[in-house]
Amino acid sequence: MKRIPEEALAYGRLFDREGLAHKMKWCGYRVDKTPSDLWVYQEILADTRPDIVLEIGSGAGGSGLFLASVLDVLGAGSVVSYDPATKWARPRHPRLEFRAGDPRTDEALREELSDAVRGRGQRLMVVEDANHTFSVTSWCLDAFSPLVGRGCYYVVEDTDRHRRADCEVWLAVAEFLGRNADWESDFAREKFHHTTCHGGYLRRKGEGNDG
Ligand SMILES: C[S@@+](CC[C@H](N)C(=O)[O-])C[C@H]1O[C@@H](n2cnc3c(N)ncnc32)[C@H](O)[C@@H]1O
Repeated sequence: MKRIPEEALAYGRLFDREGLAHKMKWCGYRVDKTPSDLWVYQEILADTRPDIVLEIGSGAGGSGLFLASVLDVLGAGSVVSYDPATKWARPRHPRLEFRAGDPRTDEALREELSDAVRGRGQRLMVVEDANHTFSVTSWCLDAFSPLVGRGCYYVVEDTDRHRRADCEVWLAVAEFLGRNADWESDFAREKFHHTTCHGGYLRRKGEGNDG
């Protein structure tokens, strides 16, 4: 596991204390991420050129809009984002669609998501930012990681391992990595040190499109 420098931990505490993750906006829509992680997302999108990004946990929609905006600049790809909550007035973008529901209990949505992913090529990237429990993190990893092609990413947000040893998200990621030798945490993606995805930039080993 990559060691986080004390200066970055101190900045992380300041970031949390001032609630900055909840004050971030992309083009006017709230996005619960750090600036450094958004920059890394942009680099991953440019490096791997996914055909489709599946976002798990849409929130207010700003993160989906950010991903769609970057794909637009790159000239290809689209985002499908789902969330059980429907309370937000989310943004519209030609490369972004929102679905309501939870595929753990909604078989139709599960099929719809699988079809959407399979129908648009094999370069799938997943960004999971749901309810941060062991069971949901694990379920999503098992359901969607097999659809991610080699060399592509499955990002798990809020791994928080440096803050709490019993972080459920991290425990689920560690358990997944323990039984999937095909996957690794890509610590090079943590070059800015301040991240909410510590150990969570998961990369499927190898290159190519054999998802
Ligand atoms: C932290 S917010 C997402 C923030 C958003 N991705 C962003 O960066 O701005 C977490 C979201 O996960 C949703 N959620 C809760 N349980 C979920 C589940 N089982 N699957 C998918 N999303 C879930 C919540 O409704 C909430 O909108």
